[in-house]
Amino acid sequence: MHLGLENKTIIITGGANGIGFVIARMMHEEGANVAIADLNGELAESRAAELGERAVGIECDVVDEQSVATMVARTAERFGAVHVLVNNAGLTRDMRIEKMQERDWDTVIDVVLKGAFFCTRAVVPFFREQQWGRVINISSRAYLGNSGQANYSAAKAGLLGFTRAMAMEQGRNNVTVNAVAPGIITTDMVQNLPHFEKIKVNAEAALPIRRLGEPEDVGNAVLFLASECASYITGDVIHVTGGRYG
Ligand SMILES: NC(=O)c1ccc[n+]([C@@H]2O[C@H](COP(=O)([O-])OP(=O)(O)OC[C@H]3O[C@@H](n4cnc5c(N)ncnc54)[C@H](O)[C@@H]3O)[C@@H](O)[C@H]2O)c1
Repeated sequence: MHLGLENKTIIITGGANGIGFVIARMMHEEGANVAIADLNGELAESRAAELGERAVGIECDVVDEQSVATMVARTAERFGAVHVLVNNAGLTRDMRIEKMQERDWDTVIDVVLKGAFFCTRAVVPFFREQQWGRVINISSRAYLGNSGQANYSAAKAGLLGFTRAMAMEQGRNNVTVNAVAPGIITTDMVQNLPHFEKIKVNAEAALPIRRLGEPEDVGNAVLFLASECASYITGDVIHVTGGRYG
C-alpha cells in the first residue's frame, strides 16, 4: 500500500508528547514535512530536532486564535504548503461532577473543541486553494461516556459532531475529515497513573485483543486516513480500542 505522504506537510497539535509525537515520527518516516505544534515550545523544538530535517517545532496554544494563526503561517512559510492537520492536543481533568469546577469543564472543552475549530479554520484556505486536504481529529472511546469524565466525554463526543459537519462542508474541496477514537494507549500520561498495573491487568483479561494499545496503533490509523488510500472516506471514525466499544 503506497501512502503517498512524501513531501506532504502535516501539522500535529500536541505533537511534543505521547501519541502526537509518535504520529509525527511515523509521518516523518513516510517522507512528510512535519510541524510539531505544542504548548510546550521547548520540547516541540527538541522533538523536531530529534527527527532532523523536514521537521519544525512551534510553540502554540490551540485555544489562542493568534497563536494558531502564527503557527500555521510559520508552517506554510517553512514548507510552502499545509496538506494535513491532526487535531491531537487534548487533556483530562477527571472528577465526579459534584467536584467539577467551571474551569475544569472549560479547559477540557476549550482545548479539544475550540482548539480543533481554530486550527481547522486556519488551514482550510490552504486546502481550498490546492483542492486537497485532510483533517484527522483525535477523539477517544470515552465519547461513549466514562464515569468521572463528563467534561472529557462531552468534548470527545462533540469532536465527532465537528468531524461530520466539516466533512459535509469541506468535501467539495476534496478535503476529507475523519476521527480516530483510541482506547487506553500506553503513553506516559497513562503509565504514570497510580493504578496503571490494575488497568493493564484488567485490559489484558477483558479486551477482545488482550493488550493495551500502543501509540503506533493510533499512528497507523492516522497515516491511513491521511493517505491517498482513504480518499473516499470522510466523516467517519476509526476505533482503535482493541475491540472495546462500551
Ligand atoms: N493516552 C490515551 O490513552 C488516550 C486515549 C484516547 C484518546 N487520547 C487522546 O489522544 C491525544 C493525545 O493524548 P496523549 O496521551 O498523547 O497525551 P499527552 O498528555 O501525552 O500529550 C498531549 C500533548 O498536548 C499538548 N497540549 C495540551 N494542551 C495544549 C494546548 N492548549 N495547545 C497545544 N498543545 C497542548 C501537551 O503539551 C502535550 O504535549 C489527546 O487528545 C487525548 O485526549 C489519548
